[in-house]
Amino acid sequence: MKDKIIVITGGATGIGYAITKALINNNTIVSIDRNPAKISALKTAMPKVDSIQADVTSSDQLNAAISKIEKSYGKIDLLINNAGKGTQFDFVNSSEQKLKEDIETEISINYSAPILLTKKALPLLKKSKEPIVVIISSGLAYMPIASLGTYCASKTAVHFATMSIRHQLAGLKIRVVEVLPPVVDTDLSKNAPVPKMPADKFAQLFIEKLESGENIMNIGQSAGLNKFSRFLPKTAFKMLNK
Ligand SMILES: NC(=O)c1ccc[n+]([C@@H]2O[C@H](COP(=O)([O-])OP(=O)(O)OC[C@H]3O[C@@H](n4cnc5c(N)ncnc54)[C@H](OP(=O)(O)O)[C@@H]3O)[C@@H](O)[C@H]2O)c1
Repeated sequence: MKDKIIVITGGATGIGYAITKALINNNTIVSIDRNPAKISALKTAMPKVDSIQADVTSSDQLNAAISKIEKSYGKIDLLINNAGKGTQFDFVNSSEQKLKEDIETEISINYSAPILLTKKALPLLKKSKEPIVVIISSGLAYMPIASLGTYCASKTAVHFATMSIRHQLAGLKIRVVEVLPPVVDTDLSKNAPVPKMPADKFAQLFIEKLESGENIMNIGQSAGLNKFSRFLPKTAFKMLNK
């Protein structure tokens, strides 16, 4: 991948950081992050990255980000909707208020934000010769871990939304890619007591698949989870919830 204008959300850490690091030398990357300390660390590590501070759940902040990108670059070749949040789901012991707040947070970051940012970015994507939208969901879109109930539900929701958006954007010749990662070693998975794929390896596999034209990327354990959830759903649920 070369000479592209790439916009990524959450490029300052984890999977987003690894993808940014892998693509920055040959492309222009705009990273949309909300945390000033993380933005500053990203700028120190990769001065070539163009950082924009915005919360992906704020329509006004995203509008301002898109205007800035339009003024600076005039188009988007690749939009990577990566920012995400995972919160523990304790249905029995959490207060109703806490459940409500967690549901609103996770649905707005993991589900609404990628759809609405893609909508806002459409005019700039249309200016690209080969526009691509990437949405990072999760292997857990196929089958939930009970202690991450709302997170998994938000990923299933964005999984179905991505299929719908792909279908509807086909006429505009905009390629829509869904990435379903396995457990990757980042802040988000820090409490998961399971083997984790290094973020750099994940980024490399993602880029290889992107360049080979793959549109549904079941990476690592997500491929097995996809099959198990269809043919042996009870076994798949038990495997995830021992
Ligand atoms: N790691 C895994 O095992 C795994 C597995 C499957 C799918 N995924 C998905 O992969 C994506 C990247 O996750 P990760 O593992 O790299 O996690 P991560 O290290 O926690 O990175 C997530 C990034 O998203 C940013 N973000 C969250 N909410 C935001 C908001 N409202 N506005 C702007 N930025 C926001 C975070 O910044 P803040 O610090 O400001 O919150 C952080 O920089 C997520 O969509 C995640 O669900 C991860």
